Formats: sequence, C-alpha cells, structure tokens
Amino acid sequence: MASLVWLITGCSSGFGEQFVLQTLARGDKVIATGRNASTKLAHLQGTGATILDLDVTMPEAEIAAKIKEAHQVFGRIDMLVNNAGYLESGAVEELSLDRVQRSFETNYFGPLKVTRGVLPFMREQKFGTVAFVGSVGGWGAVPNSSAYAACKYALEGLTEALQSEFAALFSRDIQFIVFEPGYFRTEIFSSTNVVHLPSNIPEYQAFNNATVQRQKGIYHNEKGDPAKGVARMIDTLTGSGMAEGKKLPPRLPLGSDSLQVVRAKCQATLKLCDEWEDLIVSTDIPAEADRQAEAHL
Ligand SMILES: NC(=O)c1ccc[n+]([C@@H]2O[C@H](COP(=O)([O-])OP(=O)(O)OC[C@H]3O[C@@H](n4cnc5c(N)ncnc54)[C@H](OP(=O)(O)O)[C@@H]3O)[C@@H](O)[C@H]2O)c1
Repeated sequence: MASLVWLITGCSSGFGEQFVLQTLARGDKVIATGRNASTKLAHLQGTGATILDLDVTMPEAEIAAKIKEAHQVFGRIDMLVNNAGYLESGAVEELSLDRVQRSFETNYFGPLKVTRGVLPFMREQKFGTVAFVGSVGGWGAVPNSSAYAACKYALEGLTEALQSEFAALFSRDIQFIVFEPGYFRTEIFSSTNVVHLPSNIPEYQAFNNATVQRQKGIYHNEKGDPAKGVARMIDTLTGSGMAEGKKLPPRLPLGSDSLQVVRAKCQATLKLCDEWEDLIVSTDIPAEADRQAEAHL
C-alpha cells in the first residue's frame, strides 16, 4: 500500500507518542498533534512528523481550522487516530458537575469535533479510517470512574452510529473502529494526570483513600505494553502484520485484562437475556391485536 497520511491527537506521551514513532517507521506521513505542542511535543521535532498545536477542547470552529491546516500539509488525511484523553477520577456523588463536563470536553466532545473536522476531507477523497481510542471502561465502570467510563461508553455509541451512517449513505471505504484497551503502562495514571480532590462527604473518605492507593499502585504496574498495543492497533488499521487478511472490526479489545472483562460481560448479558426473556418480550403488542385494530379502521 502507498504511504498513508496519519493525523493523531494527544502525542506527548503514551499511545499517541508510540503511534507517531511507529507510523513514521512504516514510512508513512504523520501529523502529530498535542496541546502546548512547542514544549510538549518538542521531543518529536526532527523525527519527520509535522507538529501541530491542537487542544481537543478548543471550540469546534478553531478545531475545524486546525484540521484544514493539517489537510493542507499533504493534501489528504487517510487515518485519524482520536487518542487524546485523561482519567477524571471521583465518586458519582462527590465529583462536581464541572469536572464531569471537563471529562466530556476532552474524552467525548474532543474526538467528536476532530472527527467532524476530518470527515468532509475523507468524503471528498472517498477513503479513510477513523479510530477512537476508547477503553475497557466503555464496557464496565469501576468505582470512581463514572466521568471517564461514561465518555468511553459514549464513544462506543458514536462509533456505531458513524459505522451505520457511512455504510448506508456514503462509502464503505470510509471506516470506523473503537479500540478498547485494558490497563497499559502509559502516563494516564501518573500523579500529575490524575487529580485526587479531598472528600467533601465524610462517608466517602475511607473509600476515596483506598481508591487513591489503588490507582497509585496501578501506575507503571499495568500489564499492557503500549508499544505492542500500538503495533497491534496499526496492524488492525492497515490490515497488516497480525491483522493480515482480516477486515477492520467494528471494535477491538486490547490486552488480556480487557478481553476478560468483555467476555464476562457478554456471557453475563446472554445469561440475563435467557433468564428474563419471558418478562422482556411480554411488553410487545401481539401481532393479532394489531391485525384486529387494522380491521376496525
Ligand atoms: N493507558 C491505559 O491504561 C489506557 C486504557 C484504556 C484507554 N486508554 C486511552 O488511551 C488514550 C491515550 O492515553 P495514554 O494511556 O497514552 O495516556 P497518556 O500517556 O497520559 O497520554 C494522554 C495524551 O492525551 C493528551 N491530552 C489530554 N488532554 C488533551 C487535550 N485537551 N487536548 C489534546 N491532548 C490532550 C495528553 O497530553 P498532555 O501531555 O498535554 O496532557 C497526552 O498526550 C486515552 O484516550 C486513554 O483514555 C488508556
């Protein structure tokens, strides 16, 4: 395949940084974006990537202008990786609405705005793939993760809607996928990135202290290797390596921990459907009643 043009968000560390280095190593063209790019992406200067300042929480018109600028660099954008994100931690009752909204600005509205900026160019060139870096948190929420998990669940819905809209309206050559990583050894759990606010409800104090300790214990003890995670995401997006000969899947868990959560939830949901089937289907209007109602019209 000819070299691809990638636009990647959140490239200062973790998955984003790996995406830049590994796509460049393939011989592809890369637009690496991040907030405060002149300092945060300084380590990527000289790698061959084009560096662009892009905070995904900017107003939509400003993001659209940035995407236009990005498009002008190589005259196309083949692959968009919506990677930027962070973990907003706190119990449902304690987390202020401001902080929940902040999480949605970065983790949901950011990818939405960037994607809406890129899609007109992909429609024009009749080709492209949009990847969302979701999370296993889009399958199940753990304590203190509601503001993060809700965004990752939302990305699942966004991806599915885009898949069905583009299949029906436009081209199957424009594709969408949401990746669902488990825990990977990046900077997401670093103490500068996860902000722990003091409890304002006394009953939550001990619980929150335990969560802080648990999260500190996760940092850099995660099972997933980000270099391998990104290599598999690139394989999947390009149909090469371990994904050779496979079609792009609509979603993909990454890491054994993610697989375990996804499998368990599928099995539990199928069991629930079987156990509760009688009640679940009892709400339908019987076809016979419909026919009789029509006969009386
Ligand atoms: N690592 C995991 O265990 C894990 C698991 C599931 C999903 N994920 C997802 O993977 C993605 C990448 O995270 P990571 O694990 O690689 O963590 P990371 O090392 O902390 O990287 C996160 C990146 O997102 C950027 N970012 C945050 N807010 C931004 C904004 N408003 N505009 C632009 N960029 C912004 C950060 O930039 P700054 O340096 O400026 O903050 C950083 O470059 C996230 O979407 C995360 O939810 C990670």
